[in-house]
Amino acid sequence: MSNPLGIGVVGAGAIATRLMAHLRLPDTAGKVKLAAVCDPVPGRAEAAAARYGAAAGYESYEELLRDPSVDIVTICSPIGLHYEQGVMAIEAGKHVHFNKTMTTTTADADDLIRRAAAANVRLVASPGMMINQASRRKRKLYLEGALGQLAWAITGTTMGDGAYHLNEDVRTGSDVLSNVNPGWYFRKPGGGPIYDATVYPLHELTGILGPAKRVTALSGIGIPEHWFGQERIETEMDDSTILLLDFGQAVHAVVYSTIAGAATEWAPSIYGTKGALVGSKFGDEPLKLEDDRLPHVSGEHAELREAHVYEDIMQLVRWVREDIPSVANAEHARHVIEIIESGYRAAETGITQELRTTFEPLALSEL
Ligand SMILES: NC(=O)c1ccc[n+]([C@@H]2O[C@H](COP(=O)([O-])OP(=O)(O)OC[C@H]3O[C@@H](n4cnc5c(N)ncnc54)[C@H](O)[C@@H]3O)[C@@H](O)[C@H]2O)c1
Repeated sequence: MSNPLGIGVVGAGAIATRLMAHLRLPDTAGKVKLAAVCDPVPGRAEAAAARYGAAAGYESYEELLRDPSVDIVTICSPIGLHYEQGVMAIEAGKHVHFNKTMTTTTADADDLIRRAAAANVRLVASPGMMINQASRRKRKLYLEGALGQLAWAITGTTMGDGAYHLNEDVRTGSDVLSNVNPGWYFRKPGGGPIYDATVYPLHELTGILGPAKRVTALSGIGIPEHWFGQERIETEMDDSTILLLDFGQAVHAVVYSTIAGAATEWAPSIYGTKGALVGSKFGDEPLKLEDDRLPHVSGEHAELREAHVYEDIMQLVRWVREDIPSVANAEHARHVIEIIESGYRAAETGITQELRTTFEPLALSEL
């Protein structure tokens, strides 16, 4: 395929505007161009289109999907909308990139995967953690037996205090592109720091160790309200959750999503009888190297925020144009979604949940 694909950006908030800054750079233009953006807040899509050079700005998603110049979409709306918007995109024949997380339930993820296969469209779901060189080196060391017998692991995030999303630059201004309300981050469905942030370490942990078998959890709300300017936001989704995963053969992992106090920040610590991966090191050996770069992130892209999400979009673009599948795929996303959904169910019921989904983790020959 020689013509650039047209991309439609769904939602014009924090991640969308950061991605549009990447998509307007000249090196991207030969492969994908900004065809349209939509957002239901009056004037926001138009303002984003003007600022970032998208060909069209729409107030409705339906209009964007009807635009024949849109070949693929990147869904940048609140997580609770992703499933329904994914279905609509597939029905319109568009390939889809999801800004994490793809859906909130396993059943919805199953349905998207089934529909995409039937319609012959591609799905890429962020975060594509296993595209990272450091994460791939960890998987390789594990597969080569460098850790000895696997013992246990711990990872997680501390985004539950909400401070990050309440204070992002798109939230603190007064014009339509800088007064984006973050209320959904605290509401059901789709809010809460696991779907938004802990999804990163969950992808990396399972990307390194492979699929988990069971999950149990304890969960609750630590901070009952937040303030966005004068607006009070009640916390509906738990902000303090500790998941306990079973990988089989007595290998267990703690995955926390809390309001403070990181044991390890995002990158997991994985312990074995012969060695440990701690953060981005194997013993004293650094696994994150200065020259590391994601396949599509060079030049100005490397200086811009969210370059890893731009990479995930370019994985979809490459898949559509060159038929090269991405490791940031819907099956891995579905497994992580099942862990999250089942974890909340375990916390509610007190019953450990069996996991039924799997995915194909990277083989040694691919690393
Ligand atoms: N903020 C970040 O740092 C960040 C980083 C990476 C990924 N993400 C992910 O990106 C997604 C969006 O997060 P965000 O922080 O950009 O949210 P946001 O609140 O900044 O923006 C969401 C936008 O979606 C719009 N919207 C609401 N309903 C819509 C609809 N029906 N159709 C189209 N647009 C609609 C809102 O008006 C708003 O402009 C989430 O899945 C989040 O996890 C966020």
